[in-house]
This record gives sequence, C-alpha cells and structure tokens, in this order.
Amino acid sequence: MTGPELAEAGRLLAAATRPVVFTGAGMSAESGVPTFRDARTGLWQRYDPAELATPAAFRADPALVWGWYEGRRHGVRRAEPNAGHRAVAAIQARLPETVVITQNVDDLHERGGAAAPVRLHGSLFAPRCAACDHPAPLPDDTPEPPAGRLDPPACARCAAPVRPGVVWFGEALPEAALAAAVEAAARCDLLLTVGTSALVHPAAEVPLVAARLGAPVVQVNPVETPLDAVCAVNLRGPAGEVLPALVRAAWPGDVGR
Ligand code: APR
Repeated sequence: MTGPELAEAGRLLAAATRPVVFTGAGMSAESGVPTFRDARTGLWQRYDPAELATPAAFRADPALVWGWYEGRRHGVRRAEPNAGHRAVAAIQARLPETVVITQNVDDLHERGGAAAPVRLHGSLFAPRCAACDHPAPLPDDTPEPPAGRLDPPACARCAAPVRPGVVWFGEALPEAALAAAVEAAARCDLLLTVGTSALVHPAAEVPLVAARLGAPVVQVNPVETPLDAVCAVNLRGPAGEVLPALVRAAWPGDVGR
C-alpha cells in the first residue's frame, strides 16, 4: 500500500454516499479466526475442511461435522473483533446507507459495531433442523471447546439431527440475502472488497456486479486476487491496518478514532 493509492481510495470513500463493504475470511484473520485454508491441528489434521463442509459429509457422519463446527463456534466466541471490523463500523456510522455484505459465518462485524450484515453463507450461531429447517437453540456453551466428534442435538419438532446454519459447498445461497447483496451492489457508488480470495461463487460475483455497473471497486488484500483487474485501487495489506488508515484518509478531520 502506498500513499497515493491510500489517498485515492480515501477520496473515493469520502465521495461515496451508499458504499458496499464486501468481506471474506481475511477480515477476521487478525482476530485469530482460522480460515478453511489455514493449518489445522489435532484430530482435524486428517480432514479436508472443504470435504467436511458438504451435505454429503453431514449425512455420512453427523457427529464428525457437528463436532467440527462446534469447535469453530467456540473459537469464534473467544475471538474479538479487530481494528478492521471497527473501521467498517466507523464507515457505516459516517455513511448510514453503507451495506455490509459478508461471506463470513462469525459474528465479528456485529460485535465490532456494524449493523446486521447481509450474510451470504449463513452463521455459526443459527443452527436448524437438517430435515425440516426448524430453528434450533444453540447448545449450552461448555468451557472447553469440543475436541472431536460430537452428536448433534435432535430437532424439537421432528427429532432429526440439527445442523449448523451455514451454507455448505453445493448448496444454494439464502435467496433473500443473495438478492439483497446483488441489489446493494447494483446501486452502490463504491464497493470495498476486503479479505476475500474471490474464488467462491456466486458470492464472488457481488463485486463484479458493482464494477459492471460503473461503481469503483477498492480492494484490501495482502495478495493479488481475480478481482485485481476490475479494481480502481488495490490496497495491499492486512485489513486491521489498511481499513483504519483508509478511514483516516477519507475523513482526516474526524477525531475519536
Ligand atoms: N487482511 C485482508 N485480507 C487477508 C488477510 C488480512 N489480514 N489475511 C488473509 N487475507 C486474504 C487472503 O489473501 C485471501 O485472499 O483473505 C483471503 C481469504 O480467502 P479465503 O480463505 O478463500 O476466504 P473467502 O474468500 O472468504 O472464502 C469464501 O469459501 O471457505 C469457503 O464458505 C467459505 O465463505 C467462505 C468462502
């Protein structure tokens, strides 16, 4: 990230009235939330997470998949929002029409002060019945994270196993969330994409919709992604450092951040 790039991105943000902030796993990396692609430990070394995150895996071994997600939920519960999440909330406070769209299944945007994000891939905190979709209560939290297999609770309505409320590979995205995301991207006057490899579709199309309709796209990521080509500005660096710097660049006179 260089001074001129940050200044240009700050100028675009300051001129925006209805930006979209589109986030992926890199947004939460500095909070210590591991991505699928991060090194895994213990029992989980043997498994490919992309293969655990499927309807077929849950059908074949519900306790394996439920235990893995309960471990992830415990990890997120112990994590704290980072300076990047707080900067997103600051953008929203400054520009109330800001729409936050996330692929993340953690709750760090909310805890960082942003208004309810559009969730394209569901949430670790919204389990539901695998058969009848009836919402299920979150299990009581134990002090120790589950270290392995764990039987899922039974649905209170139909007794089928409860599943995590996330979107698995091969599943459709929640229709309302996808429609809200596409609509926000189509009407935004700036799209800020943060910490996503932009490889997983259809979510990765959201920034492309904005670009196609003429909104400038600003990217925050330490490395190149397929979105580089459509970006007005690429800010190479970690979200927890770049986003606060971007907010300061957009509104240099503001105090209290
Ligand atoms: N700040 C910003 N970006 C970062 C940081 C950071 N501190 N650390 C890593 N990144 C970037 C990486 O360079 C990478 O481009 O975050 C991106 C993370 O990419 P993925 O792990 O592919 O995450 P994401 O794009 O959210 O994946 C999309 O795929 O794993 C499934 O369903 C899951 O929602 C997820 C979807």
